[in-house]
Amino acid sequence: MHAQVQPVAAQVPHEIPTRNKALLKWVDEVVQLCQPDRVHWCDGSDAEYDQLCAELVQGGTFKRLNETLRPNSYLAWSDPSDVARVEDRTFICSEDKNDAGPTNNWVDPTEMRATLTGLFKGCMKGRTLYVVPFSMGPLGSPIAHIGVELTDSAYAAVNMKLMTRMGGKVLDVLGEDGHFVPCLHSVGAPLDSAKLAGQKDVVWPCNKEHKYIVHFPETQEIWSYGSGYGGNALLGKKCFALRIASIMGRQDADQSGGWLAEHMLILGVESPAGKKHYVTAAFPSACGKTNFAMLVPPKEFADAGWKVTTVGDDIAWIKPVKDEKTGETRLHAINPEAGFFGVAPGTSLSTNPNCINTLKANVIFTNVALTPDGDVWWEGLTKEPPGALTDWTGQAWTPGCGRPAAHANARFTVSAAQCPSIDENWDSPAGVPISAMIFGGRRSTTVPLVTEAANWSDGVYMAATLGSETTAAIVGQVGVVRRDPFAMLAFCGYNMADYFNHWIGMQDKITVKPRLYTVNWFRKDESGKFIWPGYGENMRVLKWIVERVEGKAAATESPLGFIPSYRDLDWTGSGFGEDKFASLTSVDTAQWRQELKLHEELLTKLSLRLPVAVKSRYDQLSAALA
Ligand code: OXD
Ligand code: MN
Repeated sequence: MHAQVQPVAAQVPHEIPTRNKALLKWVDEVVQLCQPDRVHWCDGSDAEYDQLCAELVQGGTFKRLNETLRPNSYLAWSDPSDVARVEDRTFICSEDKNDAGPTNNWVDPTEMRATLTGLFKGCMKGRTLYVVPFSMGPLGSPIAHIGVELTDSAYAAVNMKLMTRMGGKVLDVLGEDGHFVPCLHSVGAPLDSAKLAGQKDVVWPCNKEHKYIVHFPETQEIWSYGSGYGGNALLGKKCFALRIASIMGRQDADQSGGWLAEHMLILGVESPAGKKHYVTAAFPSACGKTNFAMLVPPKEFADAGWKVTTVGDDIAWIKPVKDEKTGETRLHAINPEAGFFGVAPGTSLSTNPNCINTLKANVIFTNVALTPDGDVWWEGLTKEPPGALTDWTGQAWTPGCGRPAAHANARFTVSAAQCPSIDENWDSPAGVPISAMIFGGRRSTTVPLVTEAANWSDGVYMAATLGSETTAAIVGQVGVVRRDPFAMLAFCGYNMADYFNHWIGMQDKITVKPRLYTVNWFRKDESGKFIWPGYGENMRVLKWIVERVEGKAAATESPLGFIPSYRDLDWTGSGFGEDKFASLTSVDTAQWRQELKLHEELLTKLSLRLPVAVKSRYDQLSAALA
């Protein structure tokens, strides 16, 4: 028999670190439904983190890495069936199906609640329920919001400590009546108490049959069942900071003008003259966002005094803020997260030295390979792989054995404060003012290196029709072009056409608009090789962008927008030729006519609520490219 957990209300007051009525009631309800053996209120302390990690080591979920090579760090290998976000199991359960829109999976909320209640019943038997209070955004910032995750996964709890501001301080801010977003998570693998005598838990509990990542927009609740991995389990990230927050931002439009929750990195660019701009960039998963966020400029640029700093690598919350002195209203952004949950494969000292230096200590690695001396390795970390490894499935691995050593979606979790390029304002409650917004996809053909939209509405169209080749960050086919509007296809918590409308309307809420750009670092030549070197070289494009904002750089008008000519970019220290640049920036009308057919497919799908401005830009482009 599993132990009976006392109702929270009946526990000794000093054991419960909150008097928040809604939270106490909800925890009681969840305890009754899920029947955990124990309840642990996370205080967010380092001692608690160490204790939970030690328990994960004892249970076999974590391996402690070599203390000299990788201090205070751990490696987890997941179940091979639980390695990425499950978009086909992700649901937006609004009362009205049209409010979820044609790009989201929808199930009637009453039906979904019945299904979930059945699955969650007794699902935590034999396990501990961790109460994880967290703030997305600096504690107390007017842009921040509080959530509480109830989870039966200690792995999720320790990751949440690195990824969010987590623990008792959050409960203090919440007070007795403060509002929080309830985020319920279970790995969906109750320990059968009878069998438990003598039987060990599996190292990565999950439910192979049922997975549900569910959002209820009207009540702003999240229920996640069956997976222990990344965005499926760390509910502050995709579920709250994007899906639920995007809903909140639009709802607030009536009172405060609204705000935006975006799948965007935020970086700072400082010129030799000391002029600083902040830029956001949206890319689909695994398109090098972390690399761009931590960009190291080419030597000649760095020597001249150009600096790039990191505010966030994945998510931005963006609000109009009025400057009382100047009377101007601009968009300000915060990074709601406090850590990076980045893709490890491909990260190296040459592709992203700031990231490698962030990962020196205090890291949780998931699904990378283990070296014989107790450190980690993944494809791309070094030119030559080590002679022998244990791969992410726990098998002996040698170079040439035909299997990857790390899973393609292997990850690291690390606190943002450790990043050498972290921006001085990354934690600022007021956020940072945004000068430009970039939208990028992974496209072998068709899309030029960089294009500036002529105006806000054209930029919204460019972002709305963004396409990208799929990657291993999601379960499914890799390398297929799919439309990924604003890189938000999997993350917009409401009807995508309403989301376009919200973006179109945002221009009326601000007096100084950021300029909008699309980029494509991934164009290939006839032999299938990438034409653009990317990484630090992207600085040349970034410099052009901030100089455009300042009215200093030239560009040529094309049907798509403004595109730089070779002479408009700074090529100091580069041997990149003019011909190659031409092949990166050409606009092939035949290809674009094909591309427009794909735009049309998306727009037709969204036609019910599509903004007029988006439809008219499509008509205008079709005419220009005819
Ligand atoms: C991520 C993703 O984990 O986009 O950031 O998949
Ligand atoms: Mn992401």
